[in-house]
Amino acid sequence: MLAFLGTTTVSSSRRSRVQQFCGHLTGSRVSVFASGFLSRDPSQLQRSRHERVNGTLVRAYARQRLALTRLCVTSTPAQTSTVGTLDEHKAPPAEKQRVRIQRLFEEAAHFLQPANSFVVIKGWVRTARDQKQFAFVQVNDGSNVSGIQVVVDSSVPSFDKVASLATGCSIAVSGYVRKSPGAKQPIEVQATSVELLGPVASNYPLQKKRHSFEFLRTIAHLRPRTNSFAAVARVRSALAAATHAFFQSRGFIYLHSPIITASDCEGAGEMFRVTTLPPGATEEQADFFGQRASLTVSGQLSAEAYACAMGDVYTFGPTFRAENSNTKRHLAEFWMIEPEMAFASRDDAMKNAEEYVKHGVSFLLETRMEDLQFFDQFIEKGLVRKLEQVRDLAFARVSYTEAIEILSKATEKFEFTPEWGSDLQTEHERYLAERHFQRPVFVFNYPACIKAFYMRVNDTEPTTDGRRTVAAFDLLVPGIGELIGGSQREERYDVLCSRMQELGLSEEQYWWYLDLRRYGTVPHAGYGLGFERYVQFCTGMENIRDVIPFPRYPGHCEF
Ligand code: 4AD
Ligand code: MG
Repeated sequence: MLAFLGTTTVSSSRRSRVQQFCGHLTGSRVSVFASGFLSRDPSQLQRSRHERVNGTLVRAYARQRLALTRLCVTSTPAQTSTVGTLDEHKAPPAEKQRVRIQRLFEEAAHFLQPANSFVVIKGWVRTARDQKQFAFVQVNDGSNVSGIQVVVDSSVPSFDKVASLATGCSIAVSGYVRKSPGAKQPIEVQATSVELLGPVASNYPLQKKRHSFEFLRTIAHLRPRTNSFAAVARVRSALAAATHAFFQSRGFIYLHSPIITASDCEGAGEMFRVTTLPPGATEEQADFFGQRASLTVSGQLSAEAYACAMGDVYTFGPTFRAENSNTKRHLAEFWMIEPEMAFASRDDAMKNAEEYVKHGVSFLLETRMEDLQFFDQFIEKGLVRKLEQVRDLAFARVSYTEAIEILSKATEKFEFTPEWGSDLQTEHERYLAERHFQRPVFVFNYPACIKAFYMRVNDTEPTTDGRRTVAAFDLLVPGIGELIGGSQREERYDVLCSRMQELGLSEEQYWWYLDLRRYGTVPHAGYGLGFERYVQFCTGMENIRDVIPFPRYPGHCEF
C-alpha cells in the first residue's frame, strides 16, 4: 500500500471512472492525495500509464503501477472547492460527503491517518478571527459541544473573506484533519477551501456573549444553536434511545396509546377538549366523535389492556394537562414513559423503575460525557458526580406514613405543615430527597383519599393505625421532587367498582376497563415517568421549559 500527497499534473486519464472523475483536469496542475497498491503485473503496465497522476512517482517505481484505491483531488487552479474523491471500491460520490464533527473527535486516530485525513465539514460559524497569515474559524454543526477549529492560511483563495465571516453564517470547509498545536483542542482542520453557504443578516440575535434562558425562550427557533440547548437536545435524544433500549431489551412491547381519548385516567378533569363544534355550540351528540373527547393525560388505561394480554408493555408519547401550573416543573404538553407489567406487584414496578432510571443515567455517562461536563461546568456544579451516585447507589424506600413522621420531626420550616392524609408538597419531596436521604427515594403506600381510583387498596398496613392506603409509589429525586408516579393496579372487580362509586366515576364509561377485571384478571403494576423532568434531572436545567424544544404552558403556544 502506498500513499502520495502533493501537487501534480494530470497527464491523462482514460479509464472510464477516472475519466469521469478527473478527465476534465488533464493537463492541469492539481493537489492530490492518492493511495493504492503497487503492482508488477506487466500486463497492467500499459494501463498504468493512463492512470498515473504523478510523473515522479512512476519514474521512481519504473515498470510498476499504482492501482488506485483512492484518489482525492483537493484543489485545482481554477476551482477552490473540493472536486471529489475517487474510491475504486465504491462508486465515486459526486461530492465528498460531509463528516459530522463529533465523529472527527471520536475517531481522531482514523482521521489523522493520511489516507483518511481529507474531510468536508459543514456547519455554522461561532467565531472567526484573523492573524494576518492565518484565520481561525470555530465551526459547530450541532454534533458536539466544542465544534472544531478550522485553520485557514493565506494560500486559500477565499482567505480575505474568511476572517470576516459573521457569527451564524453557514459554511462548507474542505481540508485536512491534523493534530492541533494549540492546547485547547486535540485536532483541527487545515482548510484547503472555505465556501460560504448562507450569509447572516446583521440583526442575527445570537451573539458571542451569553444570553439569558428567558431571552432564548423568545427565540426558541434559534436557541438550538446555543451550546446549552444543543446539549439538551443531544441528551434528550440519547435518553429517548436509552428508554427504548432498556424496555426492548427486557422484552417489553412498545405500545402507541391514543392521543385523543374519552377517558380521564387521572380523574382530575385537567383535559384539553378536542372538538369540531363551532364556538357556542351546545349539542354534544353532533360533535365529531359523538361524545366528549380530549387530549390524553396518560396512556395508562390503554397500556393496562395490552399488559393484560402481552405481559409487559410501555408507552412513550406526548401527554397533555390543562392545569394552570406556572411552575418550573409543569408543562401543558409533556412526554411520558408508561410501563405496565402483568403478574407484577408494587415492588416489582419500583424495582423496574429504579433500573430504568439508572440505565438512562449510565447510558449518558457512557455516551454523552462532553455534554454532561458542559452542564457540570455551567449549569449544575457536581452534576457528573451526582449522576455517578445515582448509577451506583441503591435508591431509598420509605412508606408515606414514615415520610410524614420524618417531615414532622424536621427542623426545616415548611410553608405547608406535613400532615397524614394530605399530598406531599414539592418542598416536602425535595427535603426528603435532597436533605434527608440525599438520593432518589421511593415513597410508597399513600392514603387512598389522595390517589386515583385505579390504585390497589392495601389490605392491611400495621403502621397506619387502620388508615386506608393504596399500593402507590412516587419516586422523588433531588432538585426536582416527583419524577415518577405509579402503583399496583386494583385487579379485584368488586373493590374497583366500590372505589369508583366512592369517587363518583361512572362504571358505564369505564366498561372496557372493568372488563379487564372480569376476564382473566391478574395482579399488575406500572408507572409514569415525566420525560422532561428526567432530562432536567440529568442536565441540571432549572426550568422544564428549557428541556423541550418548543414548550407549551399557560399563555404560550408560539413556534
Ligand atoms: O403522577 P402522574 O400524574 O401519573 C400518571 O399519569 C399515571 N397514570 C402514570 C402511570 O402509572 N402510568 O404523572 C406521572 C409523571 C409525574 O411523576 C411527572 O414526572 C410527570 O408525569 N408529570 C408532568 N411533567 C410535566 N408537566 C406536567 N404538567 C406533569 N404532570 C405530570
Ligand atoms: Mg403524580
